Amino acid sequence: MPPEPAFYLGAAAVYGDVVLAPMDGYSDLPFRSVCRELGSAISYTEFIHAPDVLQRPARVRPRWQYLPWEQPVVFQIYGSTPQILLEAALRLQEHGPAAIDINMGCPDGHIVRRGAGAGLLRTPLKVARIFRLLSRHLEVPVTAKIRLGLDDACRNHRLIARIVEENGGALLAVHGRTRAQGYKGQADWDAIAEVVQSVRIPVLGNGDVHTPDDIARMKARTGAAGVMIGRAAIRNPWIFARRRREDIPPAEVWAVLQKHLARSLDFYGPERGLVLFRKYAAQYLAPWLGDRARRRALLTAPTPEAFLRLARETLTGARSPAAIAKSSF
Ligand SMILES: Cc1cc2nc3c(=O)[nH]c(=O)nc-3n(C[C@H](O)[C@H](O)[C@H](O)COP(=O)(O)O)c2cc1C
Repeated sequence: MPPEPAFYLGAAAVYGDVVLAPMDGYSDLPFRSVCRELGSAISYTEFIHAPDVLQRPARVRPRWQYLPWEQPVVFQIYGSTPQILLEAALRLQEHGPAAIDINMGCPDGHIVRRGAGAGLLRTPLKVARIFRLLSRHLEVPVTAKIRLGLDDACRNHRLIARIVEENGGALLAVHGRTRAQGYKGQADWDAIAEVVQSVRIPVLGNGDVHTPDDIARMKARTGAAGVMIGRAAIRNPWIFARRRREDIPPAEVWAVLQKHLARSLDFYGPERGLVLFRKYAAQYLAPWLGDRARRRALLTAPTPEAFLRLARETLTGARSPAAIAKSSF
């Protein structure tokens, strides 16, 4: 018996209900593909500035490159002008994404002031225009990632969700915070449930999913078709296999770390690949980096070989994180 799809992205079946969130500076090809292998059901790219796609494509190309088996791959773009979003989306469509996603959640002042990211939540009519335009002219589905609104006085998540759906949007990811909250405070899962009840298209709930148990809790609380995970996946990419970080033995950390580093070196070249990998290395090795000198040596290792030697030393004979946690009580 083939597995049941968890939900559909347009006409395409999606097998799996947990998805890596788009994260600027993190959800690049090497990390995304590692998460996809561990169980993330869709590969969302980091956000891509729509005008850059048209004016400086070479600079932003790495953001939309992907491995064929990462599909379904969703390219996320941001911008504020419907026509430019359309032209960028048409250009990007040539590279074969499963969908194009419009970022309506970025809280960054520079972006919001220009009416992009969460700034679009202020202009529902423009949101309608963007989705009508893109869904009419693109062959692939158009999706949205939204927040609850600009601030508590202006929570318009249900309105925006219905506008997206009525104008051809195929899926919504909802981060349960307002723009004013940034990444602070508690994500409001009940507001995500309100969106689920307001539309028929699939909804991915997002915000404050830290553990495998939280995945089930969010699904039960919101009725969402799936769960999108950001920061917790940086700490624990095994969350996509519904495994707790403390249950991952050092040998498995070693295997995934090596594979991730190899992809980073391959994708960015040996120097940049190592530098960009350091922030992930700090997370992979976090349970064993109590010793500050070792931490510094690892995170400043000048070559991949030197880094791997130190990482192997750190992990060889290391106890599992669960055993470390128990012994410290
Ligand atoms: C470093 C960082 C970069 C992010 N970049 C993006 C982005 O490019 N596009 C986007 O829609 N959201 C972006 N987000 C928001 C996440 O996708 C997600 O909505 C948010 O982190 C809440 O989920 P979490 O509690 O699981 O982390 C970013 C978040 C972080 C922490």
